[in-house]
Amino acid sequence: MTTVGILTAGGDCPGLNAVIRAATTRIAAAGGRVVGFLNGWAGVMENKWVPLDRDAVRGILARGGTVLGTSRSDPYVHGDGLASVRPTLADTGVDALIVTGGDGTLRSAARLAAEGLAIVGVPKTIDNDIPGTDVTFGFHTAVQIATDAIDRLTTTAEAHNRVMLVEVMGRTQGWIAVYAGLAAGADVILIPEVPLPLEQAARVITERHAAGHSYSVVVVAEGIRSPEAHEMPRDAFGFERLGGVAYRVAPVLERLTGFETRVTVLGHLQRGGTPTAFDRVLATRLGAAAADAALAGETDVMVSVSGPDIVTVPLAVAGGPTRGVDEKLFSLARTFFG
Ligand code: F6P
Repeated sequence: MTTVGILTAGGDCPGLNAVIRAATTRIAAAGGRVVGFLNGWAGVMENKWVPLDRDAVRGILARGGTVLGTSRSDPYVHGDGLASVRPTLADTGVDALIVTGGDGTLRSAARLAAEGLAIVGVPKTIDNDIPGTDVTFGFHTAVQIATDAIDRLTTTAEAHNRVMLVEVMGRTQGWIAVYAGLAAGADVILIPEVPLPLEQAARVITERHAAGHSYSVVVVAEGIRSPEAHEMPRDAFGFERLGGVAYRVAPVLERLTGFETRVTVLGHLQRGGTPTAFDRVLATRLGAAAADAALAGETDVMVSVSGPDIVTVPLAVAGGPTRGVDEKLFSLARTFFG
């Protein structure tokens, strides 16, 4: 009987439970055994896990978060790499691991696979920036939450003749900003990939107000460069802990435009709660495909979306440079600035 371990690591993301449910159900149906490691890699390093079967994963499809818990714990940062996970894997009799995570998690997974562990990766992040896949689950949900928020902030901006800055997540890439900005009709979108000088953004706002529209909505991706130097703390993967750059952009725009400006930082709201139907289906497809790959003995691969299909690509692909916003899409969004 094949035993497959599952873990969810890194920041949580709507759809993680759908992956756990789909993979577990598929493996159980094939006569396999499933071990769910708790709190990401920490569960493997500390030998903390729960047995999973079809019944254990009933009723979790629509739940946000992850029933297994997650952490930014990493075997190469907080342990001795392979040596810190091997005892638990031997103890639990795990033949293959399904690792659901973002670029940091998948990079470590690729190292472990290169050292001999059987690993299938499942890409996850609301940021939608993992290379090697067309889209990541969680992104659609985050965009919907951000769009709903921007819609609401637009009416209060209009009522008060204000400039409203809405900061959304997306560490190095502006996918959420561009999609939500397009969906909600933002007047300016600031993203890290295509830096727009604040003088230019101010000009767009000033001209818009001069044309009789006395309010503006500006979507700010959290990863844009701050107008003033600002040191951010770093997480376990060495990534900057972002959030709040809009508070540093607002006074500059207020000074340049002369219009009253307010800030809303959406933060972790974008990661919480139930996944959209699209993300539930996408995560289910990826979870089932990961189970199939693990049961078939595939290793050192990541399941990924390629057009209408779910395929496998080398796990190392996920560790490459993050995937930036499509230029054509951003250029479309710019059409509606002002
Ligand atoms: O990578 C996903 C993400 O939500 C980013 O958009 C954000 O910068 C980061 O995680 C926040 O991480 P944490 O939950 O550790 O604050």
